[in-house]
Amino acid sequence: MPDYTKEIERRRTFAIISHPDAGKTTLTEKFLLYGGAINLAGSVKGKATARHAVSDWMEIEKERGISVTSSVLQFNYDGYCINILDTPGHQDFSEDTYRTLMAADSAVMVIDASKGVEAQTRKLFKVCVMRHVPIFTFINKMDRDANDTFELLDEIEKELGIATCPINWPIGSGKKFRGVYDRDKKKVLTFSDTMKGTKEGIEEEIDIDDPHLLDVVDEDQKEQLMDEIELLDGASAEFDQELVSKGELSPVFFGSALTNFGVETFLQHFLTMTMPPLPRTADCGVIDPVKEDFSAFVFKIQANMNKAHRDRIAFMRICSGKFDAGMEVFHVQGGKKMRLSQPQQMMASDRHIVDEAYAGDIIGVFDPGIFSIGDTICMPGKKFAYEGIPTFAPEHFARVRQLDTMKRKQFVKGISQIAQEGAIQIFQEYKGGMEEIIVGVVGVLQFDVLKYRLENEYNVDIRLENLPYEHIRWIANKEEINLDRIQGTSDMKKVMDLKGNPLLLFVNPWSVGMVQDRNKDLVLTEFSKN
Ligand code: G4P
Repeated sequence: MPDYTKEIERRRTFAIISHPDAGKTTLTEKFLLYGGAINLAGSVKGKATARHAVSDWMEIEKERGISVTSSVLQFNYDGYCINILDTPGHQDFSEDTYRTLMAADSAVMVIDASKGVEAQTRKLFKVCVMRHVPIFTFINKMDRDANDTFELLDEIEKELGIATCPINWPIGSGKKFRGVYDRDKKKVLTFSDTMKGTKEGIEEEIDIDDPHLLDVVDEDQKEQLMDEIELLDGASAEFDQELVSKGELSPVFFGSALTNFGVETFLQHFLTMTMPPLPRTADCGVIDPVKEDFSAFVFKIQANMNKAHRDRIAFMRICSGKFDAGMEVFHVQGGKKMRLSQPQQMMASDRHIVDEAYAGDIIGVFDPGIFSIGDTICMPGKKFAYEGIPTFAPEHFARVRQLDTMKRKQFVKGISQIAQEGAIQIFQEYKGGMEEIIVGVVGVLQFDVLKYRLENEYNVDIRLENLPYEHIRWIANKEEINLDRIQGTSDMKKVMDLKGNPLLLFVNPWSVGMVQDRNKDLVLTEFSKN
């Protein structure tokens, strides 16, 4: 075993997913606080400041106070080295949000206790399921009036199709929130209001049979708790680490990120239940994170971090071995040996150059325009490629019109480069050329990013004309299908992507089913594997 085995084994790399406003930023801040990476809870005030501190890389982020791109944060806690992959929390999230999940070994799902499962959670959850990523649930905002606990769990099970296993159980909510009962220890952890996390709370651990408990919870609450525990022990799934690791059972925790309650307990449990860097599948078989030498794949490309240089940063997840700055590596898709320049990592609010990094870590390297999403980097002489990152279905489409036709060349160059980075997808009319370009995005904010970047980086003005399509399907068996013969619906449009793959766009979800019915031999997919 290499001498850095311990370094890899202490790594935990996960993404936090949630619907906007469920408390993802607050929870992340509290994690950093426990890790000593920031000094004081609440020192990163308000969302806008928090996000600026973390990633003020693009002007547009500063203007809007939202994070367009995902960030990665690393900190140490209790002997673990933790990498949190933050995903854009704004409603207008992008394909990067999905791709980030490809780099994670597990996901923490934050749910607002008064709202339950919301749209964005549902979408991100689908990607976790596709990869069988273990999912841990933190039900937040228990200091506010919450939905019935059993109903919340029922909703997660029904809506997301995953079994749940509450590790702790809340006593009341809102003004009547008294704490959580730890089912394993059989103790109540009492809640004390920390005034939004600004003052230290005095939490007590009280045995369920201790009469002192009645100083904290009233008779009715105690009785209700006893009933619920009984019901729970009889009805809910038992904790089973194997099912958790397969992504089939989600351990559930309750708390209040804002008041710091239940956060550290959650972190401690979570770190023992989630896994160190997992083996990943490549075209030559499964790559072991410890036994194999350095290898990584690119999951995100971010442009224009330094406007003066118009450079790009390729973010890669290290899947195996140790990375040393300056060592020679092999870029498989480019077929070239190279050194990765300016490797950097994020530590709380700073970016800094790293000398070494290990499997589980994320590094960003300077990209002179050679990397694409999904590319593999390994040691010279190895030459294997990790499974590609799927192209996710855009949900918004617009026709792009270029205002100054003299700038055709810049326009095509700009839009192609932005598409290559994976910020947008571009399509052409079926049997048409580049004259008519349709842009597809996962979140509508990407339209603004496109317009802004074309203007600022390529000096090209465009007008976007929204199209009504919301559903896209790739044709998986295109070789067997005569495209001209497809029996469509009135709202269907045939387009091609840049690689010449045919796709179908639909306005209505039911049209997808209808076209499928009318063309039984057609195989339609929501993700493209290439
Ligand atoms: P997000 O990243 O998932 O979008 O959510 P974020 O953490 O920004 O939290 C959204 C809002 O919910 C914030 O309030 C935050 O303070 C609040 N919040 C987070 N956790 C809890 C909790 O446990 N209890 C309660 N009561 N509120 C919580 P805001 O008013 O939008 O922003 P701010 O100005 O207070 O930061």
